[in-house]
Amino acid sequence: MIQVVHTIKEVREAVKQWRKEGLTVGLVPTMGFLHEGHKSLIDKAVEQNDRVVVSVFVNPMQFGPTEDLDKYPRDLAADTRLCDAAGANLIFNPEPSEMYEEGFCSFVDMNGPTAELCGKSRPIHFRGVCTVVNKLFNIVQPDRAYFGQKDAQQLSVIRRMVKDLNIPIEIVPCPIVREADGLAKSSRNTYLNKEERQAALVLSRAVKAGQHCVDLGERDAHKVVEAMKALIETEPLARIDYVEAVDLNSVQKIDKVEGEVLFAMAVYIGKTRLIDNFIVNIK
Ligand code: PAJ
Repeated sequence: MIQVVHTIKEVREAVKQWRKEGLTVGLVPTMGFLHEGHKSLIDKAVEQNDRVVVSVFVNPMQFGPTEDLDKYPRDLAADTRLCDAAGANLIFNPEPSEMYEEGFCSFVDMNGPTAELCGKSRPIHFRGVCTVVNKLFNIVQPDRAYFGQKDAQQLSVIRRMVKDLNIPIEIVPCPIVREADGLAKSSRNTYLNKEERQAALVLSRAVKAGQHCVDLGERDAHKVVEAMKALIETEPLARIDYVEAVDLNSVQKIDKVEGEVLFAMAVYIGKTRLIDNFIVNIK
């Protein structure tokens, strides 16, 4: 039976016991309202480790002042059932005050991979992500941690942080899980009404169109991006935040499609900001 704990002390005690028994530990950091995308990370973690911790924490530090912190969906009971069924062992669900005590003033900040894409439209976002993930790493001290390619820039940022700060944890990437019609699964999809849900398909259609361009041999990154943008602009409910091509590891803009390239987009459907992406590896 899965255990749900709310304090750092309880996590440390559980992990200490497992370590005594010589067991390996995997960590899946989440903000909860779990769906099949999260579940794919948990499944992989269960497969690769003796014990699995899922953190469920809507991290205030990574939300801007006008963003959706207050209305971000929460359902710990459903999350607990999903984690239990998937074979996870512990849910860590702290209050913000447990993570950020009064007087908290240390941050993990980064230049480079955080400058483009979501870093531009959400200036404080990655500082919040890096800080909380670093804290979760220190609290759980797992062997491996699992991140989805759905948030491709976040994955590149975490990889860079682990490298730069010599954090002895293996970062395991997991592919994007989609709905049957192509929409990438996201806790934020619950914000969409029926009409918007249909309009949101323009993101995965743009992914397909971009991928198709590259498959046909297009190596001018701008042309691929233009094709994706043109498609998105046909949807009246969609408003582009960005569509860009960047080097997957450095997250810097590129002109030519060669090596590992990330094509990423953020698009507003009504008031809801959704992201999607695809990665190509051209030798
Ligand atoms: P959250 O959005 O809850 O996502 C938790 C993890 O699930 C992330 O690694 C994300 O990439 C992955 N994920 C979400 N939807 C997915 C999908 N459709 N397919 C595959 N993976 C998917 O990302 C965060 O939370 C936070 O920023 C966090 C890392 C927990 C730090 O607060």
